[in-house]
Amino acid sequence: MKKLQKKYFLKVLLLMALGSVSTTSGANEYDQRQVLSLNKAQQTYVLTEMRSLLKGIETIVSALVADDLEKVTRHARPLGMAMKETPENKLHGILPKAFMMQGKAIHMAFDSIADDAERIKDPKHTLKQISETLQKCQGCHDNYRIKVSDASTSKNKPRTGNDSEQIKRKK
Ligand code: HEC
Repeated sequence: MKKLQKKYFLKVLLLMALGSVSTTSGANEYDQRQVLSLNKAQQTYVLTEMRSLLKGIETIVSALVADDLEKVTRHARPLGMAMKETPENKLHGILPKAFMMQGKAIHMAFDSIADDAERIKDPKHTLKQISETLQKCQGCHDNYRIKVSDASTSKNKPRTGNDSEQIKRKK
């Protein structure tokens, strides 16, 4: 029994060790999301766009609460296909195709929100579009996570793979 416990213990240790070194190659036991291996600048780029998306959604929802469909259009449009600073544009060839397509779908969704708020002017309809857009956000978040793979940032790799903490510590 004791021997068995020891064997089990060693196995767990081994798994933990593997988890901490193999995270760049893919999902691990704790986190099944596909890994996007980016350097720090690329990660910052993606996350900055993400925060504008969240900010945009928030502004659009508050405009909707005020029944201000003009404002909805005004804030949805810049997040549409006209948005230049997107990972799809800047990280073309680095991000997987499926990821790029989901990114593009998000920008098309914002264009539809802008178009329909202008033409249909039905808050309920806009709300439904926002809900569908949020499902798209969620769909991508369920599937991907970023792992900073830059050689300069791979030192002191925290076991949890929490890269934002890693970046903070580096500063
Ligand atoms: C094409 C894929 C994709 C889509 C679509 C997407 N995201 Fe993200 N988002 C990501 C990834 C990848 C991360 C980083 C997750 C990680 O590394 O754990 C992220 C992170 C974020 C973050 C955290 C930013 C930070 O500074 O840490 C926010 C906020 C966010 N997304 C908001 C949104 C919103 C709102 C939408 C929809 C309007 C959206 N995202 C759509 C892929 C996507």
